[in-house]
Amino acid sequence: MDSDLSPDPELLDKVINLAKRRGFIFQSAEIYGGFRSTYDYGPLGVNMLRNVKAAWWRSMVQMRLDVVGIDAAILGPPAVWAASGHLETFTDPLVDCRKCKERWREDKIDGVCPNCGSTEFTEARAFNLMFKTQAGPVEGEGATAYLRPETAQGMFTNFNNVLATIRKKPPFGIAQIGKSFRNEITPQNFVFRTREFEQMEMEYFVAPAEAEEWYRYWIDQRFNWYLDLGIPSDRLRLHEHALADLSHYSRGTTDVEFAYPWGWDELEGIANRGDYDLTQHSNASGTKLEYFDQAANERYTPYVIEPAAGATRAMMAFLLAAYHEDEVEGETRTVLRLDWRLAPYQVAVLPLSKKPELEGVSKEVLAILQPHFACDYDVTQSIGRRYRRQDEVGTPFCITVDFDSLEDRAVTVRDRDTTAQVRVPIAELLSSLRERTNQE
Ligand code: GAP
Repeated sequence: MDSDLSPDPELLDKVINLAKRRGFIFQSAEIYGGFRSTYDYGPLGVNMLRNVKAAWWRSMVQMRLDVVGIDAAILGPPAVWAASGHLETFTDPLVDCRKCKERWREDKIDGVCPNCGSTEFTEARAFNLMFKTQAGPVEGEGATAYLRPETAQGMFTNFNNVLATIRKKPPFGIAQIGKSFRNEITPQNFVFRTREFEQMEMEYFVAPAEAEEWYRYWIDQRFNWYLDLGIPSDRLRLHEHALADLSHYSRGTTDVEFAYPWGWDELEGIANRGDYDLTQHSNASGTKLEYFDQAANERYTPYVIEPAAGATRAMMAFLLAAYHEDEVEGETRTVLRLDWRLAPYQVAVLPLSKKPELEGVSKEVLAILQPHFACDYDVTQSIGRRYRRQDEVGTPFCITVDFDSLEDRAVTVRDRDTTAQVRVPIAELLSSLRERTNQE
């Protein structure tokens, strides 16, 4: 796929516009004026987001014997976040502009207020990004709870539970997909940085001596996951953090970066967390989180390699990479060249006309395909308009049922990217589409 790497603010607007117009992503509480930095996923968006998460789960859990999944609670007691280091260090430096009173993240503004241009700021204060709430009807310290700012801690606190119930030994991983919450000071760029978002994280427990090797392995795996799902290689790169920039827990971090419309920025981080988390939780809880290697008769605290991705951020990158405008029959069309595994609809069944004769066979075709593919069914407007509508939301295949179909028991399959059309017998339609999506 071709791609232009120069920053392109227009592309962001086009994708935001398409996302709203076609039911991918809506501003949350829009009828009340919107609630900043929260978004709702519409009928097409929820399909696509589920597909992103399913593709991740398939590659990280289903296709492996060394990784299992969990789904941990979002609410947690302060003890977890004290041990993880989040209560103390999960902060951003916050400054107020003395002139216009706007509040900013100090490390994001280069000393100049983006609102009024002033260079006069208050002293930086550490602002904790966690959402604090209260569990139960009684207020006070005993009732304090936090919404998790990352899914990772659920994997560490369940380390012994998973080891005791699943017969795994290092190297093995625990994976989780779920919502996380951060009171970001400057949420921005659509769903790139929001206060409520979804993460896809995996904690891979290894013998300390093997940590570096596995760190490199997971960097490679995760980079290739995005390539495999259609992000062009020239829009992805790796960025290894300098030692001085590492988070409190990290012995090494490499980001997979994507060329967003505003330039290169983080898509996913892969970190070597050492034994930081298991040691912290062992010390704080009094429960040893270790592995006993029977063969070597040795007890040790595994190191953790963590590929940490954002589901919502990844969906945005897939949308940006897929967005194209090209020319078909002298007309400009918008097309999302999404991998079929990510597309909200994989197939659209389009009866050529609304005439009742076509309905029976069209519904028959739909019934054949629906158990295997996410299908749309559209009878409104001209066939050309309907093709464009499907192109715009990334549907890889349109199946047109026409009056000849009644005679020859065949339909026309149109390819989204090439617009090429082929006639396929209904009896062979499913196997033909499975072949075209490499499922045979
Ligand atoms: N457990 C490690 C961890 O949470 P992180 O780099 O803070 O690491 C991992 O987050 C990924 O989660 C990021 O690369 C990004 O894709 C996603 N993410 C983090 N903060 C986000 C936010 N405010 N909005 C959307 N996605 C976010």
